[in-house]
Amino acid sequence: MAHRHLLQIEGLHPQQIEAMLDLAESYVLLNRSGKTQRDLLRGRTLINLFFEDSTRTRTSFELAGKRLGADVINMSVSTSSVNKGETLLDTAATLNAMMCDLLVVRHDQSGAPNLLAQKVDAAVINAGDGTHEHPTQALLDALTIRRRKGRLEGLIVAICGDVLHSRVARSNIHLLSAMGAIVRVVAPPTLIPAEAARLGVAVFHDMAKGLAGADVVMMLRVQRERMNGGLVPSAREYFHFFGLDFDKLAHAKKDAIVMHPGPMNRGVEIDSAVADDPVRSVIKEQVEMGVAVRMAVLDILARENRRNV
Ligand code: NCD
Repeated sequence: MAHRHLLQIEGLHPQQIEAMLDLAESYVLLNRSGKTQRDLLRGRTLINLFFEDSTRTRTSFELAGKRLGADVINMSVSTSSVNKGETLLDTAATLNAMMCDLLVVRHDQSGAPNLLAQKVDAAVINAGDGTHEHPTQALLDALTIRRRKGRLEGLIVAICGDVLHSRVARSNIHLLSAMGAIVRVVAPPTLIPAEAARLGVAVFHDMAKGLAGADVVMMLRVQRERMNGGLVPSAREYFHFFGLDFDKLAHAKKDAIVMHPGPMNRGVEIDSAVADDPVRSVIKEQVEMGVAVRMAVLDILARENRRNV
């Protein structure tokens, strides 16, 4: 991969992305067989450093590390010295002294994992920073799409909802565009980031038009915790115009798949009947792919760093 860290998708070469997806594919098979590969990261330490809440991402990094044999430590911020005023850089110095090999970081400030990467000896993996990027989420989404559709190139992917606050959307836009997919964003004008045009995506404010002919419909959570005002008038109104139900989904291709990174606000951005539809929804598969993708990323970075030592 020729990278010491995984901080963002932006700037990765399509071949690097392809290589990660191919390796992840082999981990899907390993996981399904019930086997592990505990010799791969034996003796290595992985620290999960989460300054923000997480269920899926933290547990899947933990599982991924354990399946490859690493010693996994979860540092949750509520019990750490960060709450006593320790700065990010002091935390980095502490982690260095512990000689951790792989550091998985989630932070509410965009750029925090980047800063840490300059200060720690460990390989840093961004598990979501502010509204910037969430690279492993985009990789697991891509793997899910590729397995269902057989390819990424040429597919129409509609990313719908709170694009403004979504690091998932940003990473997906970079990855899918790099791999030749046609990316649309569909949202009310208040939830479209100013840089949408620079990112080269088509912008829609109407679900019927935005979903027309789409192969993939990717829904995003309405991130109220990042809204300091009334960007969304009411949940009921939002659902009426932008919530995915079967009526709106009917505008997409007949075999279009439905995705959501979780956690879902049922009845706000997605109707339960769609979210739980066993044919159209691949939401559970995304979670499964998450473990495989994180195993692949840990594997690649551990190898890369061994070479650097
Ligand atoms: C996402 C996140 O934290 O960025 N969740 C996740 O990692 N599965 C999306 C979200 O919080 O809405």
